[in-house]
Amino acid sequence: MILIKNGTIVTADRMERADVVIEAGRIAAVLPDRQALERRAARIIDARGHWVMPGGIDTHTHLAHPIDRLGVTTADDFHTGTVAAACGGVTAIIDFSLQRRGESMLHARDRRLAEIEPDAIIDYSFHTIVTDVHEQVMDEIPVLIEDGFPSFKVYMTYGDKIVDDAGLLRLLEVGGANGGLVYAHCENDCAVTWLIERHLAAGKTGPAFHAPSRPPEVEAEATQRAIMLARLVDSPLCIAHVTSAGAARHVAEARAAGAPVVAETCPQYLVLDDSVYDTEAGFEVAKFVCSPPMRAADHRDALWAALEAGTIQQVSSDHAPFRYHDQKVAGRGNFTRIPNGLPGIETRLPLLFTYGVKAGRISPQRFVELAATNPARIFGLHPRKGTLDVGADADLIVVDPDAEVEIDAAALHSAVDYSPFQGMRVGGFPTWTLSRGEVIVDRGEPVAARGRGRRAERQRITATTLP
Ligand code: URP
Ligand code: ZN
Ligand code: ZN
Repeated sequence: MILIKNGTIVTADRMERADVVIEAGRIAAVLPDRQALERRAARIIDARGHWVMPGGIDTHTHLAHPIDRLGVTTADDFHTGTVAAACGGVTAIIDFSLQRRGESMLHARDRRLAEIEPDAIIDYSFHTIVTDVHEQVMDEIPVLIEDGFPSFKVYMTYGDKIVDDAGLLRLLEVGGANGGLVYAHCENDCAVTWLIERHLAAGKTGPAFHAPSRPPEVEAEATQRAIMLARLVDSPLCIAHVTSAGAARHVAEARAAGAPVVAETCPQYLVLDDSVYDTEAGFEVAKFVCSPPMRAADHRDALWAALEAGTIQQVSSDHAPFRYHDQKVAGRGNFTRIPNGLPGIETRLPLLFTYGVKAGRISPQRFVELAATNPARIFGLHPRKGTLDVGADADLIVVDPDAEVEIDAAALHSAVDYSPFQGMRVGGFPTWTLSRGEVIVDRGEPVAARGRGRRAERQRITATTLP
C-alpha cells in the first residue's frame, strides 16, 4: 500500500485536503487524515504544500511517427517520448498508428503495437490514421473498436494522407454506428495547395511563408465542413487542434444545436502567436513550422475564451518533434520540405498550469478537466483513467503549485534539440508522477523501467459519453 499524505486533492469537480490510499495499482480510498494507515504503508509520500491530481492524458502525440513524403521520422521513440511525458506529468498517451494506402488497419495496429510495447514507460493507446477508405476498412472498423481502438484520425489535407469528403462521410457513418469517433485535422486542401504554389512561384520560399499559406479561413471552412458531414449522419466528431476564432465558432454553434462535436487545442496556440513567423528572422523560424500555424493574438484570446466557455474541452500537445539541426533544415529554400510539428509533450501541463491557472484564466479543477478528465472521457479511457475515484488506476501527479523553473530544452527529456517555449518561466512540473501506483518520476527524476507501460483499455464512444 502507498499513502500520499498531507496534500490537496484536485480533481475536475473538487479541491480539498485529503490523503490518497493506493492498493494493487488502483485508488483504494481518498480520506481525510488517517494516521492509523501509516503503519501499513510500504511507502509514504509527504505531499505537504503540494496538489495531488490525476495524471495528464495526452491524446495527440506523434512518437516514432514516419512522414513518408519527406523520409523522416519524429525524433522521439516510445521510450524517450514517454519518459518526457512522465516528467511533464503525463501518465497516458494516445498516439497514432498509420494505415498506409492499400493496407489493412489491423495490420497497421499490429505493426504499431510491436513498436510501442518494448519501449513505453506509461500506458498507451492509439488512434488509427485512415488514409485509404477501401471496403475492407469498413469491415475492420467494428473489429478495431471491439479491440479497444475506437478512434479514427482523418487528415482533410496533407497529400499522402488526405481523405476526401466521400471517405470522411463514410468513416463518420460506419464509425458512429459502431461506437467509434472520427478525429479530424481540418484544413481546406485545395486552398492550401493553391496558396503554397503562389508563395513558391513568387520566390517566397522561407519558413515564415508557411503561415500565410494556411490562413485561419482554410481551417474554419474545413472545420465547418467536417461538422456538417458528421451532422448528416448524426455521428460524434472531435476536431483536432483548433487554432482560430472561426473554427471555434463553428464548434460552438454545433454544440449549441446539440450536435456531439468536441474539440481540442494545444498550448502553442494558447501561449504563442504569429509573431514567431518573422520573415526577417532567418531559418530558425522553421522551429515554429506546424500545421495549422500559430495565429494572430486575437485568435489566441478567442481560444482562451472558448476554453472558459466549454466550447473546447481538452488541451493536447500535438507533440511532433523534429530536430532542428538535421531534420527541420531539410526545408531550407522550400518551406514545404520542413517537417511540420513542434515538441510539447513535457511542457503541456506546465504551460496550461502557468498561463491558465496561475494567470487566473481557469480554475485548478478546470485545469484537471482539460488535461486529464475530458481527454479520458472523449477517447474512452474514463472512468479507469482521468480521475481519482476509488477503483481508478492510480495514475497521478504531485505538484508544488509554487515552484517555478525556466523552460530549457537541454533540461527536458525529449530527443529533440530545441523547445519552442525556451526561456518561458513556468510552474506545474510534477515532483512525483505515479503510474498504476508505481513511482515513475521521483523528485523530478525518471525512474521507470523501459517497457513497463501497458496498453490502456478503452470503451466505445457515443454522443452520451462525450463531455
Ligand atoms: O504540424 C503538425 N501538427 N504536425 C503533426 C501532424 C498533424 O498535423 O497532426
Ligand atoms: Zn493535425
Ligand atoms: Zn498531430
